[in-house]
Amino acid sequence: MQQIFDKANSVLLEINSSAPANNDELEQFRIKYLGTKSVLKDLFGHMAQLPNERKKEYGQLMNTLKAAAENKFEELRQSFQTGKSSKTETPDLTAPGYDIPLGTRHPLSIIKNKMIEIFGRIGFAVVEGPEIEDDWHNFTALNTPADHPARDMQDTFFLSEDKNTLLRTQTSSVQIRVMENEKPPMRYIFPGRVYRNETITARAHCTFHQIEGLYIDENVSFVDLKQCIFYFAQEMFGRNTEIRFRPSFFPFTEPSAEVDISCFVCGQKGCPVCKYSGWVEIGGCGMVDPAVLENCKIDPKKYSGFAFGMGIERITMLKYQINDLRLFLENDIRFLKQFSAG
Ligand code: DAH
Repeated sequence: MQQIFDKANSVLLEINSSAPANNDELEQFRIKYLGTKSVLKDLFGHMAQLPNERKKEYGQLMNTLKAAAENKFEELRQSFQTGKSSKTETPDLTAPGYDIPLGTRHPLSIIKNKMIEIFGRIGFAVVEGPEIEDDWHNFTALNTPADHPARDMQDTFFLSEDKNTLLRTQTSSVQIRVMENEKPPMRYIFPGRVYRNETITARAHCTFHQIEGLYIDENVSFVDLKQCIFYFAQEMFGRNTEIRFRPSFFPFTEPSAEVDISCFVCGQKGCPVCKYSGWVEIGGCGMVDPAVLENCKIDPKKYSGFAFGMGIERITMLKYQINDLRLFLENDIRFLKQFSAG
């Protein structure tokens, strides 16, 4: 009985050590171990002679043998096949490589970078703040009373039941973060994404980008603000650009203004971009309200400053004459391909 086991074990050894070197030898191997009259079939036949209590053990040994033969066969069959094809198809090492398509910058990134560069030349450094904000930084510290329409559910995406956590609706929130943590003088811009609960149309979106500016020092005046915006407008839209300030209201600035630039598309002759008025709006600005300085523990008797906010989408749409806000987020290659940073 032990002889039957010994025989099976020696066949296992044989299978494991055999090394068919080509397809013919492999075929011999197959016939010998896996064919209809194979050694394995023969060994299976001995099962009947074994006492019942050893049949299970023998059966397992047989399975091992079969698996060993099948695996070796399959492995060698595949390697002979690939070996064969690599002999006939030597790769052409001189063939030109594949083109790697180069991407382009997103138009919003191009304009954002340009704005950062322009303001950088007159001393503004970049700071970024969180998109998830609290009520204090987005509203309260910015002198926005609890009943201000900007706090309405219509406009703000709240993230908590108590309405304390929200997606910032304006980059003005970063003004507060910086003023709370630094002492004047300070001169920064804050680029970033903002969110508003608006219906998406060609002119409005639930998310867009702003660049906020903040300059706080002793003796900062409205003249400084005007000169700063004037410099930006000329650098961005061309040397012939003029600016116009219209009185306006923002809770965190006093006085406040909205800024128009002369229409660079038609040279103020009147066109669809300026709606035949000769002027286009680019943002809001004003002198930082003393109440806001106080909220950030900055002495309004000693320091004053100005702030401004501009929509990056708005500037980009003007600059490239894009008339649908939704295009920026659709990732349509035909749209994105048109812009280059040059
Ligand atoms: N935060 C304002 C908005 O989203 C824009 C703005 C206006 C920012 C005036 C300012 C400012 O810093 O002084 O509509």
